[in-house]
Amino acid sequence: MKSAHRHIIRQAQDFAREVHQGDASGHDWWHVQRVTRIARILAHLEGANVYICELSAVLHDVADEKLNVSKEAGYERVRHWLKQAGAEASDQEHVLGIIGTMSFSGGTGSAMHTLEGQIVQDADRLDAMGVIGIARTFAYSGWKGQSMYDPSVPLRERMTLEEYRKGKSTAINHFHEKLLKLKDRMNTESAKLLADGKHQSLELFLEAYDKEWAMGNEAYL
Ligand code: ADP
Ligand code: NI
Repeated sequence: MKSAHRHIIRQAQDFAREVHQGDASGHDWWHVQRVTRIARILAHLEGANVYICELSAVLHDVADEKLNVSKEAGYERVRHWLKQAGAEASDQEHVLGIIGTMSFSGGTGSAMHTLEGQIVQDADRLDAMGVIGIARTFAYSGWKGQSMYDPSVPLRERMTLEEYRKGKSTAINHFHEKLLKLKDRMNTESAKLLADGKHQSLELFLEAYDKEWAMGNEAYL
């Protein structure tokens, strides 16, 4: 990688570290570092532009709604940073396109148009899976004040509109609402391979959780 690019990535890391430090909503600096490392590995495996993947990964959650007044304000923050950092115009555009798609799609929606965007999205999704994804889900639930499990709370897809508006869910419900679906949402072949093992961890965890939860139930005894 060119030394000018290396320099911009280092500056972006300083900027993102400042933004994410102390966050307890699942967007801490360590998440950003893990996503950056996964993105780097995927970039090498897939033959993508490593600089664009790393830079986008470092900045990918700076624009997050939870860390800004609004999504738009977050996006502007990244746009402004890239400009003052002196990144090449076409690279600024590419990185902004990736971050815009990631933050405005809510994790489910619009497709990534470039291989680099697909890789950063895969890396972010991979970090929501496996045992780290499990830990993040419980940490996020605690931050949000929702319980780890409550059999009386229906899955979001089965909620009435009124229940849905209240936004109540549980950590265990989040597995069914999102985590277990991520395996089939990977863009690249390399990420699909990595997702397999992580998906297995999710299933093993849920199986053990159910067993312990049922302990003492008549049906169990
Ligand atoms: P990211 O874009 O980094 O995936 P999210 O805001 O979607 O960030 O989520 C941050 C972490 O919190 C992820 O691990 C995600 O699975 C978890 N999370 C998001 N929403 C919920 C929820 N409603 N309940 C429990 N965990 C959640
Ligand atoms: Ni993220």
